[in-house]
Amino acid sequence: MARFKVPGEWSALKEDVPLTKAQVEDKARNLLAQMTLAEKIKQMSGDTPLLRGFVELLLAYNRRPLPAGENARLSIPALRFSDGPRGVVMNHSTCFPVAMARGASWDTHLEERVGAAMGIEARSQGANLFAGVCINLLRHPAWGRAQETYGEDTCHTGEMGAACVRGVQRHVMACVKHFAANSIENARFRVDVRMSERTLREVYLSHFKRCVDEGVASVMSAYNKVNGHYCSHNRHLLRDILKKEWGFEGFVVSDFVFAVRNGEAANAGVDIEMPLAIHFGKRLLRLVRRGIVPEDVIDDAVLRILKQKIRFAQIGEPAKYGSQAVISAEHSALAREAAQETMVLLKNDSVAGTKKRILPIDVAHLGRIAIIGKLAAQPNTGDKGSSMVRPPYVITPLEGIRAAVPRDCEVMYSDGRAIRKAVGIARKADISVIVVGCNHKDEGEYIFTKGGDRDVLTLKPHDETLILQTVTANPNTVVVLMGGSAMITESWREKVPALLMVWYPGMEGGNALADILLGKANPCAKLPCAFPRSESQLPFFDKRARSIEYGYFHGYRLMDKQGQVPAFPFGFGLSYTTYAYNNLHIDPVEIDTDGTLRVSVDITNTGNITGEEVVQLYVGCDGSRVERSIKELKGFSKVHLAPGQTKRVNFVLMARQLAYYDEQQGDWTLEPLTYTVYVGPSSRAEELLSVKFRIRG
Ligand code: BGC
Repeated sequence: MARFKVPGEWSALKEDVPLTKAQVEDKARNLLAQMTLAEKIKQMSGDTPLLRGFVELLLAYNRRPLPAGENARLSIPALRFSDGPRGVVMNHSTCFPVAMARGASWDTHLEERVGAAMGIEARSQGANLFAGVCINLLRHPAWGRAQETYGEDTCHTGEMGAACVRGVQRHVMACVKHFAANSIENARFRVDVRMSERTLREVYLSHFKRCVDEGVASVMSAYNKVNGHYCSHNRHLLRDILKKEWGFEGFVVSDFVFAVRNGEAANAGVDIEMPLAIHFGKRLLRLVRRGIVPEDVIDDAVLRILKQKIRFAQIGEPAKYGSQAVISAEHSALAREAAQETMVLLKNDSVAGTKKRILPIDVAHLGRIAIIGKLAAQPNTGDKGSSMVRPPYVITPLEGIRAAVPRDCEVMYSDGRAIRKAVGIARKADISVIVVGCNHKDEGEYIFTKGGDRDVLTLKPHDETLILQTVTANPNTVVVLMGGSAMITESWREKVPALLMVWYPGMEGGNALADILLGKANPCAKLPCAFPRSESQLPFFDKRARSIEYGYFHGYRLMDKQGQVPAFPFGFGLSYTTYAYNNLHIDPVEIDTDGTLRVSVDITNTGNITGEEVVQLYVGCDGSRVERSIKELKGFSKVHLAPGQTKRVNFVLMARQLAYYDEQQGDWTLEPLTYTVYVGPSSRAEELLSVKFRIRG
């Protein structure tokens, strides 16, 4: 394990007693008053000299935290930036399941714990700013960086992102990214994402607002354009909405190197150019001297930065930091627990000729198991872009299963390249497990030629043939899918009896997979994005687009609108137990526009093993002035239930959560209408209980 010293980076700003918000502000203003213009501008960019910085970016990316804004004269420490979100990208850190997988847990407590673990590991390695909270919506599953975010839905992504922010910010500042509408990878440096103001506010921004309300210290501006302006030069996004309207008190950092095009980005609202002073160094100083960037803008930026530095200097649990905290036994166990909670059981039919389901595998009668597919034996933790974590070990599916089956069980392996060989071992086995899907070559951050957006959403033709022939040879076959988002499974889905989506499950993924397959853990994850039957169910996507229109609808809301049935709906996932939903109740049945509705429902575990169920609440309405979704997620809750146990789950719904953005008025409007509350185990209409209520005019 790497040994490193925890820098006492905050000590100069730390006070012996906790500071109030007003005291933080005073202290920041006091420091600002002592600074020269050049010193202020130095707060606003990375500290590494340009030449060294470029060499480091090319040859030693993510090896150390990147410093910004150190001032030795006034003892102001630098921000020290490091990245995520599947763990800390420096040294050898704990590699958790990717964010999309964690989105499938729908477990905000778990996400907060993962966030806290990443915060501890970041701080233990000298960082104080962790940019590992990516909350761009998954508009289309082909997006190469889908794995870095939590899913397709605004409410779900907002809650998961906010949970991560809470956890991280117990130890270091968090940065949410990429503001905004960054969801095409190959074209990210130039694409102009166009959309109506209503779509922007309701669909693409409200989860950022959720994280701002959670107190996030920093927001990263994206590379792409929104409605004709690069995001780092987009005054409407950064100044009008983020800073003025939402009252964001933190600072905006630019995405790296290419996001800031000139010093005028400061006027638009970028506070720090990362990671080098290309435009925000001497050039910015000149712009201020020429009056192009007012000194007020500089003061506002520096005050924001100082306030967060002072705020976070008071935060932390020093006893937890140090090299022993990185990949600690506790964090490895958390990585395994997280992976168990993120694997979505999509199908689990009966074993041929019996009533018993294929999964969990009955170890008592397991003589031989066939493991097939090259991904079964590959450490496959996600892409190799800026979010790559280098854990000291990765348990592959093959290793995990080998370690977990009884000693006398024979584990046979074929990488599946020769289909005949794979079919041969499947035929001899009691059960076969095929591991297929994507790796970093198929999708990820687009760096030079690696990764990028996916060209097709189906598996490779070879893998589809491998599945079909294996399942013909042995009907007891489980398909395990790896990848960063939805896949199209049409040509083989009906033929396979069991299907498990494991995403990129992190360094403990193989162990967690074995836990699920052998029944040590009960699957409890649900899809954070709909799995379509075909691309025709998705919005238009073009990875080479120069300009693209983002409509109001995508994902389950688009499929609902078009009356289309997905292969697997948003929010769907099976368990080894079953649940029943009863007694949906609301109180009161009519509320005012500033009112609150209480919603409750009984959930019973009707099977005979303990499990966790994700209860989902959607709302729809009839007769709106504008086109609305048939239903939209407005809340969710994960409940733990012993066999036979019933729990009452309560939600609070505020009338204002049902407002839409009125473009004419430039404000949110709440319509007095009849609304329908839907509660159930997924977004699939047939499974939802419903009840109506009114908002009074
Ligand atoms: C990515 C950001 C990342 C930054 C620093 C950029 O290429 O888009 O998400 O935070 O690099 O690694």
